[in-house]
Amino acid sequence: MRQRVILWTAVLAVMGWMSYGIWRGEAAAALERSRAGEVSAPEEAVKEQKLIALTFDDGPHPVYTPMLLDGLKERNVKASFFLLGGNIEGNEEVVERMAEEGHLIGNHTYSHVQLTKISPEEAEREISGTNEKILAASGVLPRYIRPPYGEWSEQLEAMTAMEPVFWNVDPQDWKVLDRKAVADHIIKHGADGAVVLLHDSYETTVEAALEVIDTLEKQGYTFVTVDELLVD
Ligand code: NI
Repeated sequence: MRQRVILWTAVLAVMGWMSYGIWRGEAAAALERSRAGEVSAPEEAVKEQKLIALTFDDGPHPVYTPMLLDGLKERNVKASFFLLGGNIEGNEEVVERMAEEGHLIGNHTYSHVQLTKISPEEAEREISGTNEKILAASGVLPRYIRPPYGEWSEQLEAMTAMEPVFWNVDPQDWKVLDRKAVADHIIKHGADGAVVLLHDSYETTVEAALEVIDTLEKQGYTFVTVDELLVD
């Protein structure tokens, strides 16, 4: 009995030593590869994947939204637009253009109400009335909603099939109204996975957004629509 225990202990010790040797050999080879700068291709690709979503609320605006769409088209960049149903009338062509050019169109209620402060029936009207306007103008039925003031509730969640989209970078463009200040804020706080809150109702915002794209693309960022960040 005692001899068997000793024998098995010896066998396990030898196996352990062998696997340590194999591991050490692999580790040394990997270290050598990385020293030689030969980091494997898939790792590199994952590291380089830095995604940012620019989102624009409160539109469409008859002047600044087309100006922004022109700039995005020139740069082949897609953005996300959360529209107010009440702003669509008379701007249907702008909404149609958003869809045609591959941007994501979402809902921002009909009249910019705080959904948690009104009755569920009113909230339902605010949401579906906007979806109908977007569908009629673009042929697209929105799936995402940006609740005004970021106010959402479990009741709303249960009531509608729409997915709320919030943000994690807010340069307060509507208040700052300064191209450089807005752009600097986004460039400073921009990181992989950032969802930037902007409003396409101001010329300063349009200029800032385009400047941000030009700057961050040089740093290896890719601009995507929010659905591409939400799906992981
Ligand atoms: Ni808004």
